[in-house]
Amino acid sequence: MRTALKLGAAVAVVSMATGAMAQDAFLGKPEYDQRCAVCHGAEGAGDGAVGVLFAQSPKDLRTLASDNGGVFPFADVYQAIEGGREIAAHGRTEMPIWGDYLLAEALERRNVSPYDAQLVVEARIIALTQYISSLQTP
Ligand code: HEC
Repeated sequence: MRTALKLGAAVAVVSMATGAMAQDAFLGKPEYDQRCAVCHGAEGAGDGAVGVLFAQSPKDLRTLASDNGGVFPFADVYQAIEGGREIAAHGRTEMPIWGDYLLAEALERRNVSPYDAQLVVEARIIALTQYISSLQTP
């Protein structure tokens, strides 16, 4: 519940800062291009230079909504980015745990309190999730 409330607050902050959904999506693009495209591909097709080398290649991020009855699974995607994904019996996969990484970076570079650093991380993961939602194909 607390997480849901915090998530809502962070969404509101991101929305207020940009004023429009389309721009929220844009907010996550530079970070996606810099950190995710190498595995997930420039358009999210799972064909990044590193991603294709994995035994289990990254899923096509453009079909997350259509695989879920046409509804983009926002919370699942958020959690996959924040915590990586555990697959039963196989343990963790190559998907990095961005929540930990972004938190360490926020604490180190931005000189903010641990609480504020957590908010920075949430806002960034929300921006990434919204960017991925903008990549969906019908
Ligand atoms: C080192 C390669 C690598 C990088 C870099 C990477 N990923 Fe992934 N990602 C994977 C792999 C492999 C999977 C598929 C296996 C899995 O689900 O754990 C995956 C799965 C995912 C999923 C889950 C898709 C589903 O099945 O629901 C999401 C969402 C995702 N990545 C987003 C991101 C975002 C956002 C970034 C950048 C911040 C990123 N990834 C960077 C390798 C990577």
